[in-house]
Amino acid sequence: MKNPIIEVSNLYFSYNDTQVLRDVSLSIREKEFIAFIGPNGGGKTTLIKLLLGILKPDRGTIKIMGQPPAKTAHRIGYVPQDLNINKSFPISVMDVVLMGRLQFHRWGHISKEDRIAAENALESLEMLEFKNRKIDDLSGGQRERVFIARALTADPDILFLDEPTANIDSQGKTDLYTLLKELNKTKTIFVVSHDTMVLSSYVTSIACVNKDVHYHDDAEITEEMLEVGYHCPVELIAHGIPHRILKTHGDNG
Ligand SMILES: Nc1ncnc2c1ncn2[C@@H]1O[C@H](COP(=O)(O)OP(=O)(O)O)[C@@H](O)[C@H]1O
Ligand SMILES: [Mg+2]
Repeated sequence: MKNPIIEVSNLYFSYNDTQVLRDVSLSIREKEFIAFIGPNGGGKTTLIKLLLGILKPDRGTIKIMGQPPAKTAHRIGYVPQDLNINKSFPISVMDVVLMGRLQFHRWGHISKEDRIAAENALESLEMLEFKNRKIDDLSGGQRERVFIARALTADPDILFLDEPTANIDSQGKTDLYTLLKELNKTKTIFVVSHDTMVLSSYVTSIACVNKDVHYHDDAEITEEMLEVGYHCPVELIAHGIPHRILKTHGDNG
């Protein structure tokens, strides 16, 4: 196997006394398109924050491109969860996208190069025509694209998206996954999502995160799995065929 782009070994993490992740080991290859699924509170966002170096493990190690997360943050794009909560934020689309360039400069020194990078990112998401629009005058799907554009301005190798489709209708979800599939030609992509039915036709692998992490490469369909309610792939089973069914996790999965 090629060197993994991300390697997590025996990771444990707790907030105060509450254990959130337990003995997580995970190896992700370059150009994978991986979905993190699992119940609310299962630890998906926490795992992403650990991979970004925002949080530090209690035990275990994380290597991104062979290095600790703190050294690779500039190679990673991040679209956080709950971007839609504050809808009265009076800032333009262009300003939001330019924020993605701040890590390269001190505030107040937006260069022509920054503007070009921001416009290119908007163009690639078919959002350039909205560049002067206020961010709160966009639909959920359009706003999500703006935040993806912001993450893309640094030309990251890895993109993390935490529930990007939570506020998007079903057509918008399909459009967004199609876009991510396109970005996946050049980038490794992690997406947290509950759209297991839609996801299954786009992603290359799935990790079920619920304190433990169960990684499924090459997810396969088996008939008998239709009968049982597994923890993670429930929606996948419930929405009918065609679909991919995940292997069982073993005793506690
Ligand atoms: N900053 C925090 N302080 C204390 N507990 C937290 C914090 N953030 C999340 N948690 C708790 O950690 C658990 C995992 O949360 P999270 O990673 O956000 O799950 P998910 O993204 O899968 O919904 C939850 O029980 C949540 O309440
Ligand atoms: Mg979350």
